[in-house]
Amino acid sequence: MYNSRISGLGFYVPDNVVTNDDLSKLMETDDAWIQERTGIKERRHVVKGEDTTTKMGVKAAKIAIERAGIDKDDIDFIVFATLSPDYYFPGGGVLVQRDLDIKTVGALDVRNQCSGFVYAISIADQYIKSGMYKNILVIGSELHSGGLDFTTRGRGVSVIFGDGAGAAILTREEDPKKGILSTHLHSEGQHAEELSLLAPGIGYRWVTDILKDNDPDDVSYYPYMNGQFVFKNAVVRFSEVIMEGLKKNKLEVKDIDMLIPHQANLRISQFIQRKFRLTDDKVYNNIMKYGNTTAASIPIALTEAWEQDKIKEDDLVVLAAFGSGFTWGSVIIRW
Ligand code: UT7
Repeated sequence: MYNSRISGLGFYVPDNVVTNDDLSKLMETDDAWIQERTGIKERRHVVKGEDTTTKMGVKAAKIAIERAGIDKDDIDFIVFATLSPDYYFPGGGVLVQRDLDIKTVGALDVRNQCSGFVYAISIADQYIKSGMYKNILVIGSELHSGGLDFTTRGRGVSVIFGDGAGAAILTREEDPKKGILSTHLHSEGQHAEELSLLAPGIGYRWVTDILKDNDPDDVSYYPYMNGQFVFKNAVVRFSEVIMEGLKKNKLEVKDIDMLIPHQANLRISQFIQRKFRLTDDKVYNNIMKYGNTTAASIPIALTEAWEQDKIKEDDLVVLAAFGSGFTWGSVIIRW
């Protein structure tokens, strides 16, 4: 059996910076509320028509491919995670295959929201461990701004999310002590609707009925979040799944060199940091600059931490995520 290691990383965010003050011109909110509750100062929004979820993913992927030192045609498989796809179907994976002009490799779409990148890495890792593939392109990308309610009605959600993409190349690693040591995935569908976007799900409402009603107050095309309930579950599950990963590898909290938590809320990251007594240099946060970019948040943060030399060879790197589903997971990596 082989291991997989991350051999290349890249990210892309649109140039357009949207500050908290910019949002307060659209809805009743203010910089102090947003910073105090979430830590977010600004986020990026695409300029309408200039980028799509797939296009951003492709830009991130090109950087990751180059840094991995491989050719695009060395890629054996694509895993694409998003909750904001270009189309309802087909998924973004095939669009990446087309836009990168890669040969006709398999392309799989992952729909696990904020845990999407962790799930995607876990899938790619299994294909490499089994010997089936050598190089897998894993992308997390989100275009939230085109689907949020920027009126006061939607402020509990719309101030939090930002656009962007991150990508990683997973490559076969012969040394069993290096690379991805283990991945840990969970779900609790009992709380599916607590953080959800119901339309255009056919199980929710038939399209014919939506068209017939043509109701401008139908908010089912906007995401809903029971913020406090999600927050309470997040802090518990983040802690649990990090400990599960450490235990599986006979490691302890003190062995962590870098924790990259999904960037849901700075207060959640700080809670975990305090609980685990990790120093500031061992937790990477960038939600202040980008908001919550869902499936893209971990690969963007991981790429930035790596670019800033905060991750070195042999470091123990832990990725952890929690989000809609509920789904959550962790990845334990010996870099
Ligand atoms: O990435 C996936 C996982 N997501 C998360 O883990 C997010 C978890 N939840 C959170 O981060 C927080 O719950 C939020 C940041 C979403 C909200 O913070 P909160 O402290 O839980 O606030 P709240 O929802 O309880 O709202 C408190 C008040 C309400 O007003 P009243 O009812 O007390 O008068 C809201 O209407 O704040 C109001 N409010 C706002 N005020 C100004 C909600 N959104 C805003 C806003 N600006 N943007």
